[in-house]
Amino acid sequence: MKHSVLIVGYGTMGIVHTKKLSAMPDVTVKGAVDIDPRALDEVRAAGMVAYESLEEGLADPEIDLVVISTPNEAHKPIALAALAAGKNVMTEKPAMLDSAELEEVIEAAKASGKVFTVHQNRRWDEDYLVMKKLYDEQTMGPVTYIESRIDGSRGIPGDWRRDPERGGGMVLDWGVHLVDRLLLMVPSPVTRVFARYSYAKGLPVEDGFRIQMSYANGVEALAVCTTNNFIGLPKFHMEAVHGTAQIEDWQMNGKIVRLFDKENDADATPILAGQGMTKTMAPRLIDYAERAKVQDNVEILSIPRIETGMDEFYDNLIASIEGREEPVVQVDSVLRCLRVLEAARQSHETGEAIAFESAD
Ligand SMILES: NC(=O)c1ccc[n+]([C@@H]2O[C@H](COP(=O)([O-])OP(=O)(O)OC[C@H]3O[C@@H](n4cnc5c(N)ncnc54)[C@H](O)[C@@H]3O)[C@@H](O)[C@H]2O)c1
Repeated sequence: MKHSVLIVGYGTMGIVHTKKLSAMPDVTVKGAVDIDPRALDEVRAAGMVAYESLEEGLADPEIDLVVISTPNEAHKPIALAALAAGKNVMTEKPAMLDSAELEEVIEAAKASGKVFTVHQNRRWDEDYLVMKKLYDEQTMGPVTYIESRIDGSRGIPGDWRRDPERGGGMVLDWGVHLVDRLLLMVPSPVTRVFARYSYAKGLPVEDGFRIQMSYANGVEALAVCTTNNFIGLPKFHMEAVHGTAQIEDWQMNGKIVRLFDKENDADATPILAGQGMTKTMAPRLIDYAERAKVQDNVEILSIPRIETGMDEFYDNLIASIEGREEPVVQVDSVLRCLRVLEAARQSHETGEAIAFESAD
């Protein structure tokens, strides 16, 4: 089956999707719509059709997939118009500005019988996939705490992302990735959400956040985004009963430190630490240079590697349109994430922890 794609919003992500989809067999990116004439010039220069308007693009009977890569506030009207025109829709994250908008579009998608899915690309990031594997396989024993961070020091982008009306702020930018993945990693209801947002630069949108989730199975997770952090912390930190894992950076540097003999963990000798003595809080005598060596009853393991890429997402998108597969990004999971983010905002505004899902 041949597929013809319309890109709506030919900016950074519009161009990324054009390249990925154009490389697929039986898929042609026929054209794009953009409100910026310079973007339309680029569309023509790339040999594609620059449609005068969204209506004109949607009226093209050859188009069967609409990809939405505009700023956030335009996702909903474009998705509704595309579904009403009988097109399949893939939208950029955040799927919509809030859960009410997303519910409306999910209903419209159900009524149309067309595919509606979301580009949650960070579900394919290697650091997340590795941490999920350590969680699932209990490599360090049962997990107790997970911290997932993205740290920057350049403030937030100076475009529409600074405008609350346009869906700006770091929660809809990175929160929809970090919280989304923590929800998938821990298969348990989220009973409580507590959050603090930061406004270090005095903008009308948050430039950072700390969102803590308590799960019914006892796991605690913290999603952090900073934009004024000049010494970044590890991207993932996972504590389990018998060990700890960290992934420091995009290059996948990191380690797993885990008990070598968990039945006979020797008592530590008291040491002078600062102006006092400590025994149980004494650090393990780890020589990180000698990674494999067993020291003070701990072993140091390398972070496993997983080959990953976005091909699965695009292949699945086409397979879903052809009715061969269900979309790998199910919109219900995206809706749950937006609801957590709404609880997080409520928590930030009230200063209180918000009860979320029931434990059973
Ligand atoms: N998944 C990811 O990793 C990722 C990364 C960056 C951005 N995004 C998302 O992609 C979307 C676009 O971000 P970007 O960085 O590509 O933005 P961008 O500013 O680079 O591009 C947006 C384009 O949309 C056009 N546009 C604006 N309003 C429009 C409208 N009503 N109709 C048609 N065109 C319109 C603009 O002129 C611009 O060309 C956002 O929703 C953003 O959150 C996702």
